[in-house]
Amino acid sequence: MAITWSEMMSVGVPVLDEDHKTLVGLINLLQHSIGDREEYVAVYSVLGALEEYCEHHFIREEKMMEASRCPQLDQHQRTHEGFAETVRTMKLRYEQDQTSVRARDCLTFLNNWLVNHICTTDMNYRAWLIGHAGAQAVGETMSISGQRPDGGPVDWRTLRVLMVDDNLNFCEILQAILKSVGISSVAVAHNLADGKVALMGQQIDLLISDWHVGPESGLDLVKWLRQCPPPLGGLPVLMLSGHERMINRDLALLAGADEFMEKPISARSLLICLSRLAAKPR
Ligand code: FEO
Repeated sequence: MAITWSEMMSVGVPVLDEDHKTLVGLINLLQHSIGDREEYVAVYSVLGALEEYCEHHFIREEKMMEASRCPQLDQHQRTHEGFAETVRTMKLRYEQDQTSVRARDCLTFLNNWLVNHICTTDMNYRAWLIGHAGAQAVGETMSISGQRPDGGPVDWRTLRVLMVDDNLNFCEILQAILKSVGISSVAVAHNLADGKVALMGQQIDLLISDWHVGPESGLDLVKWLRQCPPPLGGLPVLMLSGHERMINRDLALLAGADEFMEKPISARSLLICLSRLAAKPR
C-alpha cells in the first residue's frame, strides 16, 4: 500500500520535509514496481536516486544541525553513513547480479529507515532547528548544483525539464531522480502530440524523450523539434532507449538528439549527462 505523507512525519523544517517527501516517493515507486516486468529497472533507478539523496539531503541536514550546534550531530552523521553504505552495497550487489536485489528487499530497508530514522531520530533535532534562523538560511541557500563541463555550477532548481514517455512508472522514477537533486519543474507527456503542445506552450530548458512513446517514435519528435525555429529548435535533447543496440545511439544522434542513454539508467550518469546538456549553448 502506498505511503501518504502526513504531518506526523514532519520535522517542522520545510526544506527537510521536502527532502523526506522525496524518499516517501521513492518508497511508493518501489511498491508500484513489485511484479512489474520492469521491476529491475525501477530497483536500479531507485538505488541510484538514493545515492543522490544521500549526497544532497544528508549534507543539508548535517550542515543545518552544525549551524544550530545540535549536540547529536556526530551520532546522526554515523547513522547517515551507515545508510549510505547499505545503499552502496545493494547497488554493487545489483550490478553483479540483477536478480540478487529485489524491490521487496529495498522496500523493507527503506520502510525501516522511514520509521526508525525520519520519524524517530530526525525528530530529535527539531528543538534545535525549528526557528533557528542561521540553520534555516544554511538549509535553504545550500546550493543544489551539478557540474558543468567548464567547471561552473548548474543550478538544478531553475532547470525546467519535459519528459516524453508512455511508461508511467518510468516517468515517476525519472521524476524522483530529478527531484532528489532539486529539479522540481518536470512536465510529462505520454504521447508526441502532448509533447509538442508542451514544447510550444511552456518554458522548457531540456527535453528527455524515450525511443518508444506508445506506438510512436521519439525520433520523430526530435526530428520535428530540430525543424522548429530557434530557440525551440536548439533545445537540448536526451534520448533514452531500452534496447542495447549501438545503432540506436547513431540514429538518435542523427535525428538531432544531443545525448543518448540506455535503460536502466544510473542516476549519477543521468545527472552528468544533464549537466552537459544544461551547459549547451543554444
Ligand atoms: Fe533526514 Fe537524518 O535523515
